[in-house]
Amino acid sequence: IRALSVASEAYPLVKTGGLADVVGALPDALAPHGVATTTLLPGYPKVLAQMGDAQVVHHWPALLGVEARLLAGSLGEHPLWVLDAPALFARDGSPYADASGRDWDDNWRRFAGLSRAAADLASGAIGNQRFDVLHAHDWQAGLAPAYLRFGGNAQDTKSVATIHNIAFQGSFDAGVFPALELPPHAWGIEGVEYYGAVGLLKAGLWAADAITTVSPTCAEEIRRPEFGMGLEGLIAARGARVTGILNGIDPAVWNPATDPLLAARYSADKLEARSANTRAVEERFGLNGEGPIFTVVSRLTWQKGMDVLASLLDDLVAMGGRLAMLGSGDAALEHAFRAAADRHPGRIGVEIGYDEPLSHLLQGGADAILIPSRFEPCGLTQLYGLAYGCVPVVARTGGLADTVIDANVAALDAGVATGVQFDGVTPQALRGAIARTIALHGDRTRWRQMQRRGMAADFSWGNSGAKYAALYKGLLG
Ligand code: ADP
Ligand code: GLC
Repeated sequence: IRALSVASEAYPLVKTGGLADVVGALPDALAPHGVATTTLLPGYPKVLAQMGDAQVVHHWPALLGVEARLLAGSLGEHPLWVLDAPALFARDGSPYADASGRDWDDNWRRFAGLSRAAADLASGAIGNQRFDVLHAHDWQAGLAPAYLRFGGNAQDTKSVATIHNIAFQGSFDAGVFPALELPPHAWGIEGVEYYGAVGLLKAGLWAADAITTVSPTCAEEIRRPEFGMGLEGLIAARGARVTGILNGIDPAVWNPATDPLLAARYSADKLEARSANTRAVEERFGLNGEGPIFTVVSRLTWQKGMDVLASLLDDLVAMGGRLAMLGSGDAALEHAFRAAADRHPGRIGVEIGYDEPLSHLLQGGADAILIPSRFEPCGLTQLYGLAYGCVPVVARTGGLADTVIDANVAALDAGVATGVQFDGVTPQALRGAIARTIALHGDRTRWRQMQRRGMAADFSWGNSGAKYAALYKGLLG
């Protein structure tokens, strides 16, 4: 099976969150199951700079009105295509916004262009190959299945839309519709129209042959208004075509026994060696004294429940905990965490920013990772925490509910607990979970048992790679 995977991010070339980790890991995950994956990414300056000698394999005089070239390179051992369209992607800033954080006004054209290229390449309308499956990730690739369907090539190439985060929908003014170069009948409920606007994710969810979410619980949650964010009706209507396939973690990047970004490497039977990482975290964050070190590695946003955590930092310290946090996002939250660090020197240390190496050290040295998300389609940091013996303390939602076994009495007695879960992202519930974690940490035998149990859990891509491959095969009949 030949698959074209199209997304706006892929680790290690460009990453703002978990989407990149997943898109970067998919080709390796699928290969053992007979799927050869080519990945298509936008030609951001950062991506082009990492490509080296790239070969030009296609030229568009006008792709949705702009000149573009298709460059061929590689992503690990797998083929990579990059859409080099300077008018769309040659800009400083993040993939989605300018340096001041404002979304680019023409994001609709940037990602419609990417999607158009993906559909034409997948169907064989351009170039000299065809793909069996077009796999479109999130709203940025949402139009790809729609272009395939409206282009009339949908019979041969099947499409899969994966929702990594339904909160980001790619909704734009209806006035952009003509510039998408879709047939007029694509404007409607059966097409791209979404509450009077152009909905890129909506279009993909309507057009795709199959829809996946990144955890089974999320696939159920988004059928309900609290989680569906306006798309619940469409999701419900697509019924059994919507399934959940849990993300895996890439063992080549996230393995404490081999991780070069740690101060010391360790495994479940050599947990003592982990303490060198704890010392390194203490040093880096200026922590002293005793007590479990909680960590946060996160975007600082409402989704992640960071406002609730910020309101509890004095309590966390009063209960005997310490905090080493790494994150960036909402200015008010950045300020709140910085202020808490100023109030509690030696007990709370904060780094505002994005730092891939430091994220590894924190998983390898902190005792527990706090993830109080209001919703979490899958979540990867709890999986990294499990693999690294950094016990996850999580809200019971989405992928967090699917991957962590709460340390209740029965699970502790049976020796199967891997973390702490709590219900409802409220100050009381999170405070309770922190208190419970600190008490558990005091029982050294049980704590080590939890760490080891988490490290033994298998969240590598084996299972999930097989599920995606089976989905593709099912579609191809
Ligand atoms: P989301 O994609 O919603 O942000 P995930 O848990 O799926 O959440 O993935 C987040 C990814 O981004 C993880 O790989 C995590 O380690 C990384 N990450 C988040 N914030 C930072 C940061 N400030 N510095 C380094 N890595 C970060
Ligand atoms: C999104 C979600 C996150 C998920 C990631 C990768 O960013 O917020 O929960 O793990 O995508 O699928």
